[in-house]
Amino acid sequence: MSKKAHEIYNEAHEIWNPNRVDTFRQSGIEMVMGEREGSYFKDLDGHTFINMHSNGGVFNLGHRNPEIKEALIKGAELVDAGNHYFPSQYKNELTEKLLAVSPDNMKYVFTLNGGGEAIDAAVKFARRATQRSRVVSLSCAFHGASGISMQAGNPELAEYFNMKPNPDYYTHIEYNNLEELEEVLKREDTAAVIIESIPATAGFPMPIEGYHKNVEKLAHQYGALYIADEVQTGLMRSGEMWCCCKYGAKPDMIVTGKGLSGGYYPMSAVIMTEEAGAWMEDDGFAHTSSFNGTELGCIVSSKVLDILNRPETKENIQMLTDFFAKNLAEIQKRHSDFLVEVRQCGVIMGLKTSHPMGGQALMVSLIKNGVWAVMANFDKSVLQFKPGLLMKKETAEDVIKILDKSLTDAVQMLAVAESK
Ligand SMILES: Cc1ncc(COP(=O)(O)O)c(C=O)c1O
Repeated sequence: MSKKAHEIYNEAHEIWNPNRVDTFRQSGIEMVMGEREGSYFKDLDGHTFINMHSNGGVFNLGHRNPEIKEALIKGAELVDAGNHYFPSQYKNELTEKLLAVSPDNMKYVFTLNGGGEAIDAAVKFARRATQRSRVVSLSCAFHGASGISMQAGNPELAEYFNMKPNPDYYTHIEYNNLEELEEVLKREDTAAVIIESIPATAGFPMPIEGYHKNVEKLAHQYGALYIADEVQTGLMRSGEMWCCCKYGAKPDMIVTGKGLSGGYYPMSAVIMTEEAGAWMEDDGFAHTSSFNGTELGCIVSSKVLDILNRPETKENIQMLTDFFAKNLAEIQKRHSDFLVEVRQCGVIMGLKTSHPMGGQALMVSLIKNGVWAVMANFDKSVLQFKPGLLMKKETAEDVIKILDKSLTDAVQMLAVAESK
């Protein structure tokens, strides 16, 4: 007989991750995922949830997308991971597809498996290309939990692991503050300015007018490269392939991940200009990893790009964008004391509440009512709201109904907690 959720949680508390287990249990949650398909998943008791977290975009095309599954199975009949040293038709095919959807200044693609790993690689490429070391990044950013990526993100996370970013190599600045950026760049020792096109873990605060174009301009003026972290905002989530390009910018490197996996095979990529990729002209073996350019992964990611490029996909994104814009505005009117701001760019959305823990309360009330969405870790007053691109209108309607009820529940939950 298969195990019950509480048994799995008990075991997980012992051998997997005690604090994570305790944290979920403290909120009355013992979620273990069961069956899953499209925008939905079930827990082990058969309760259904709409996925508005999408693992930050891993499930950009939904759970177990049938076309991706087919590509994966057929691909596994043909190839395996391949050998990371040799070229391959599957690697070339994915590279061509990624270049075709990227700005015309891009020349090379290096594929890896995780977003953080790809950020690390991009920063290394920038350091090599510029022969400089400094990384300028946002203090409200999350770029991953590997070495460089963690130090480039919110410094508190790195400090937890005794990896306090060395001020000779890292400078953290405020989002939307171009003066502060220019002050640092004037030292002329910056290799890369790395910006999450809309910072996810900060709750998707929207950029000021012209932000990305000015980041590009300033970076180039002072000899630095501009790396756009599109791990959460890329792959059509803004309505265009890359969110920074929607805002008119042409970075030197685009880092993508999460949804490139099709939800099945971990894949990430650094898309870069000739200048950024020059190390591959000098010593192509200088950066590598066992699973870089894995052939089965390239087959899966090529299928992801085919689906993203379809007119029907674009139409659905537009439908969802308009639907949520209209309905969230109406919901906001009904809950205006609590839901104080709706942030939206395509299907990238953040719901800002008036309470410092409002995003967390909303996350808990939503899951109790059948929607899984996650608070913004660096600003717990905000809930990240992230549907898959192929969500149907009926499902989006259910999301809105559940949100309406959950907003009321969250306010009550916070009032009860405060009265104790
Ligand atoms: C914006 C952003 N960049 C990079 C990463 C790191 O990706 P990964 O978790 O695949 O290493 C994340 C992960 O959540 C992210 O949100």
